[in-house]
Amino acid sequence: MVVDASMIGRAVAVLRAGGIVAVPTETVYGLGADATNDDAVRRVFAVKGRPVDHPLIVHLADVSRIDDWAIDVSDDARRLAATFWPGPLTLLLRRAPSASDVVAGGRSTIAVRVPDHPVTLALLRALGRGLAAPSANRFGRVSPTTAAHVRADLGDEVDLVIDGGPCTVGVESTIVDMTGDQPVVVRAGAITAEQLSAVLGRTVAVATIAAEVGSPEAAAPGTLAAHYAPDARVHLTDAAGVAELLRRLLASVDGRIGLLAPGVVDDIPDGVVELEPAGQATEYATVLYSRLRQADRLGIDHLVCVPPESEGIGVAVIDRLRRAASR
Ligand code: TXA
Ligand code: MG
Repeated sequence: MVVDASMIGRAVAVLRAGGIVAVPTETVYGLGADATNDDAVRRVFAVKGRPVDHPLIVHLADVSRIDDWAIDVSDDARRLAATFWPGPLTLLLRRAPSASDVVAGGRSTIAVRVPDHPVTLALLRALGRGLAAPSANRFGRVSPTTAAHVRADLGDEVDLVIDGGPCTVGVESTIVDMTGDQPVVVRAGAITAEQLSAVLGRTVAVATIAAEVGSPEAAAPGTLAAHYAPDARVHLTDAAGVAELLRRLLASVDGRIGLLAPGVVDDIPDGVVELEPAGQATEYATVLYSRLRQADRLGIDHLVCVPPESEGIGVAVIDRLRRAASR
């Protein structure tokens, strides 16, 4: 990873001129625009192919900028920010009147986070403004965890891609809605509901189907089913069922069949393309999106996935696998 001061300077110049810059974060790469420039933010929606009512996260240099974007920030929200920022946690807060309608997709709430990546933190400090950035993939597809993924997906449509190395976490940030009476996790990520609850000393709810919990405003559209999907059809199974599922698919479908599992699986029928094992939760999260992309490159039509243990970030991995499988 070679990013020097001149690269940061170039990125700031591009952003101030209304351009868009792909930036590394600890979770996934983001497609960034000056959050105070509505035209630039509209370009992000256009490049991503994202409906304009799916709002963007505003990335901040540090916690002190929270009040530029949000109002009625509770003590609990500030406690979470103080504990987990910079880090993979996004807070859903009431939107300040000065915050743009375009970034917020017309909602009365705003999503903010301080990402934990030295390059992007340096960029945010130099920019001195919020950076609106969704994941740097086309809408509904697999998020990028390397600069090469961004180039492959969005190539020429981005003014600058900053290569900050592979993302260390690998799945998108936890989103917690702090606008209601009770905090609600609306997207699982590296920071678990248990961790949030331990800091706050009270229960944090988890929205399995976000739209069913709280007001419609609380739902994060990224929690829709049919998200995070590769071209391959994804089939989820536990370790005990994998051999049988593979045999059934071999007998009933055309096309290439692949396997992604935490470890080496015994008794794999001939003709199945085994991807390198993904490891348990933390490692699985780091490699998940690369493996899904690899499956597509290998021309796999049906990818059988055995999830990691449902612990820690494993919950987020299982959530993404379920969405990929529900396409
Ligand atoms: O880790 C991450 O969060 C990455 C990196 C780049 O920071 N970003 C990311 O952004 O995953 P995106 O746009 O792909 O996903 C953010 C999700 C979307 O589903 C969006 O609709 C939802 O958060 N969201 C953003 N603002 C919201 C709001 N005001 N109300 C409800 N949902 C919101
Ligand atoms: Mg996304």
